[in-house]
Amino acid sequence: MSIEKKKVRMNKQRRATTKAVRIDPNIVLTVQDLTKTYTVGNSTITALSKVNLTIRKGEFIAIVGPSGSGKTTLINCLGALDFPDSGKIIYNVDGKGMGLDLAVMTNKQQKKIRLRKIGLIFQFYNLFPILTAYENVELPMIIDKKGPKDREEKVKFLLKRIGLGERMHHLPSQLSGGEQQRVTISRALVNDPLIILADEPTGELDTETTTNIIKIFLDLKNAGESILMVTHNKRIAKTADRVIILTDGVFTHESKGGKPIEDIYKQ
Ligand SMILES: Nc1ncnc2c1ncn2[C@@H]1O[C@H](COP(=O)(O)OP(=O)(O)O)[C@@H](O)[C@H]1O
Ligand SMILES: [Mg+2]
Repeated sequence: MSIEKKKVRMNKQRRATTKAVRIDPNIVLTVQDLTKTYTVGNSTITALSKVNLTIRKGEFIAIVGPSGSGKTTLINCLGALDFPDSGKIIYNVDGKGMGLDLAVMTNKQQKKIRLRKIGLIFQFYNLFPILTAYENVELPMIIDKKGPKDREEKVKFLLKRIGLGERMHHLPSQLSGGEQQRVTISRALVNDPLIILADEPTGELDTETTTNIIKIFLDLKNAGESILMVTHNKRIAKTADRVIILTDGVFTHESKGGKPIEDIYKQ
């Protein structure tokens, strides 16, 4: 690496640590005026416009919007998979109120946050097809250089807890959609993240399996996990603590959820 590049990186590192802000320790993540546009040819699409959001520890929040409203863009920005044009995404990185903005972090710091602090769940599962359920869940721990004993204990615990104790050595192709999604939930939890970010986690699943996945989220929430789920499914969104409507990249409405899972398909 050139000296110039090293200098840039060191400055960014310094900036990131000096720019730490104190935030309420009970807040997991706070988003301020987040804006993201895409330019295609000579037209500009505003995918997110001045989005503000605060997520507290142990909260389950659902963001609901139709296709194209900006849900995936939001998850990708919060998950450090994409970069916003402007705005802040401040994580409580030590869990005690040390707030760091993703935008001022170095790539290395962002990678660490992604690995250790964020549990991502995708609509299409994103499992490695040649790895078993067990190996897929173990992978983030290997990348995080955790030892074999810790890995075995944690992976087995999570897969058993989620009801896949008997199937942990199956390949993704040998599992149903609901089972594959349970594997990704276990994978998301394996490094004890601050928050789970789920992009349409039930998008491909039938009603019964959807209900089961939401039950798992509710159990996780009751165990103290913080969850942000984006979905186009208004019914399942109502089971979350807070339901926020996203319309063309703007938060347009918020209401209280908390509807029992048994009632979501009743009129
Ligand atoms: N990589 C991209 N390039 C150009 N436009 C994009 C890109 N990703 C998303 N968009 C546009 O941004 C808007 C929001 O998309 P997205 O976040 O995927 O919405 P959702 O997940 O709610 O369906 C849409 O108009 C979409 O076409
Ligand atoms: Mg999407």
